[in-house]
Amino acid sequence: MKILVIGGGGREHTIVRKLKESPKVEKLYCAPGNGGIAKDAECVAISAMDLDGAVAFAKEHQIDLVFVAPDDPLAAGMVDRLEAAGIPAFGPNALAAEIESSKVFSKDLMKKYNIPTAGYEVFGNPQDAVAYIEKNNRFPIVVKADGLALGKGVIIAADLQEAKDAVKKIMEDKAFGASGNQVVIEEFLTGPEVSVLAFTDGKCVKPMVSSKDHKRALDGDKGLNTGGMGTISPNPFYTDALAQTCMDTIFLPTIRALQQEGRPFKGCLYFGLMLTPNGPKVIEYNARFGDPEAQVVLPRLKTDLVDILLAVREERLDKQPIEWNDGAAACVVMASGGYPGSYPKGLEITGLDENGQVDGATVYHAGTKLENGKFYTSGGRVLGVTATGATLEEALQKAYAAVEKIHFDGAHYRRDIGKY
Ligand code: AMP
Ligand code: GLY
Repeated sequence: MKILVIGGGGREHTIVRKLKESPKVEKLYCAPGNGGIAKDAECVAISAMDLDGAVAFAKEHQIDLVFVAPDDPLAAGMVDRLEAAGIPAFGPNALAAEIESSKVFSKDLMKKYNIPTAGYEVFGNPQDAVAYIEKNNRFPIVVKADGLALGKGVIIAADLQEAKDAVKKIMEDKAFGASGNQVVIEEFLTGPEVSVLAFTDGKCVKPMVSSKDHKRALDGDKGLNTGGMGTISPNPFYTDALAQTCMDTIFLPTIRALQQEGRPFKGCLYFGLMLTPNGPKVIEYNARFGDPEAQVVLPRLKTDLVDILLAVREERLDKQPIEWNDGAAACVVMASGGYPGSYPKGLEITGLDENGQVDGATVYHAGTKLENGKFYTSGGRVLGVTATGATLEEALQKAYAAVEKIHFDGAHYRRDIGKY
């Protein structure tokens, strides 16, 4: 098969490397890819949001399957466009992807179908939002932009002033553009967070091994929210009993709800959960693999990923066995100094071999470019240094040992991934 992967970050590098293991894959393309991906697939200069470009390329190169990995092209309907052109694609269509791209839609869906989530109200103008926050008078309170915001559209406000500032930033200053036309004001929940990604064909849902993301920039869960500074799998808080509860109260009800709404979801559905004192609740859904969750989940997959992708697309996931490795995986993200704020680009990365790898770990490239045989930084999150092991301790030890071998000016990484 000829497969085209859409995207160019650490998640896409992980997907590419997993697909490369499949004996069914004859040729891999990635659009646009990055410096590390270029060692594993042919990178093509088509941006992830270029719907016309993806369709034209897939036709011209007789692509057998397109894996649309990032949220934006899914929300924009890239899968709809590809399938309409007769090109098989993995990922939800735009209607189903709205479970991520509109928080108002996902919250209303959960309310309608009794899926446990934080209490909330929706507002279409800042005056009503602020009036509600004043009347409610409970802090912290969570203010969320309705639409996609690069993971930055969620503000946890400690007091009234911070909540007012958040509403202003989202609805008046339009920090996230049209994503801020509506806000969700949400009850603040507490408890450990768990990411569970699941394959689903719209009817059957098969959760993958669990994982835990570390979203804050600095050690001790301090600093700004980021796209994710590191991950571990499995998540130590996620017991078998909790997995059963989540299947009964969250996973299956969500799949059925989407089906009943006429939006059957085919692809990878990401459940961002919080294990509250009142049981597991949904914090958010994503319509795709998490980044860097994919980096610790996919390396543990034993089954041929291509078989699963086809089973999902052809709606026969119930007949497709999926096997996982025991043990654990850990990913430590090396980021540019300054991330998630502004940061320099184009710094040389040393310590990698000619394939962008180091001994003892797998280096998934997130923001790198390759020039004259050398790797340079080109994004906020630069590398996801990942290792597997019999235990979490072993995986972490191997990942950190590999991180020590890699250098670029200002490199920043958390030293406490997997510690809590
Ligand atoms: P999201 O982008 O929706 O995943 O939110 C980003 C992060 O904000 C989550 O991973 C949580 O840590 C936090 N968060 C979101 N909603 C809530 C909530 N209702 N209560 C407490 N923390 C929250
Ligand atoms: N790591 C969180 C996400 O992919 O949304």
